[in-house]
Amino acid sequence: MSLRKANSNMLPKMMNGCLFFFQEFLKHPFQIGSVIPSSQALIRRVIETAKVDEADVIVELGPGTGCTTKAILENMKDDAKLLSIEINPNFYSIISEIPDPRLIAHLGDARKLKDILREHNLGAPQTVISGIPFSTMSDECGTQIIQAINDALAPGGRFVAYQLSKKVISLCTPVMGQEKVEMEFLNIPPMRVCCWEKGNGNGSGPGRKLAS
Ligand SMILES: C[S@@+](CC[C@H](N)C(=O)[O-])C[C@H]1O[C@@H](n2cnc3c(N)ncnc32)[C@H](O)[C@@H]1O
Repeated sequence: MSLRKANSNMLPKMMNGCLFFFQEFLKHPFQIGSVIPSSQALIRRVIETAKVDEADVIVELGPGTGCTTKAILENMKDDAKLLSIEINPNFYSIISEIPDPRLIAHLGDARKLKDILREHNLGAPQTVISGIPFSTMSDECGTQIIQAINDALAPGGRFVAYQLSKKVISLCTPVMGQEKVEMEFLNIPPMRVCCWEKGNGNGSGPGRKLAS
């Protein structure tokens, strides 16, 4: 297929995806927190920061219409598992149609992460990636999600959150320790990509300063 033909086939699909995302945003603005899906530049940065290619179990919180989900699947190991937890039933039904045996789509709330991992017989994830909007939820709900992530992560595992606001930093740093933050400007709007690494259980505190 020529590049022009491929692009002409992809563009309507992308536009439909963006339109559907925007329609859902209008219905649930605080839960979705963004008017369009993430850009390829942001997704690339998130995937590299999360070290997706090294993980055996990956958790994605808030996959939306699946642009991040598909990119994680493209970059993860052949024998790894991806658990994608989505609270919006319309987004969940899109995710559950992605034909990849490594993907487990789950309709539910990120706060229940521990129970959901158990329900699917999954061990502790090495990576948790989150696009859910901490800025529009209550502190109590945000703290419950962070606590669930910290409890679930394998020692040395990474939590990567991409957000416009700094609220996730104020909620997560007291629990997981020092964050590392990079800006991705090639996204609407520009996003902070924040990363924490869970302590490895050697008594060195809740988390440690990230070198890379
Ligand atoms: C900004 S969108 C991110 C979508 C996609 N990952 C992307 O980067 O384009 C945030 C997503 O988080 C979902 N979400 C919000 N709160 C959630 C929760 N408590 N548990 C699971 N998903 C949640 C929303 O429904 C939405 O799909």
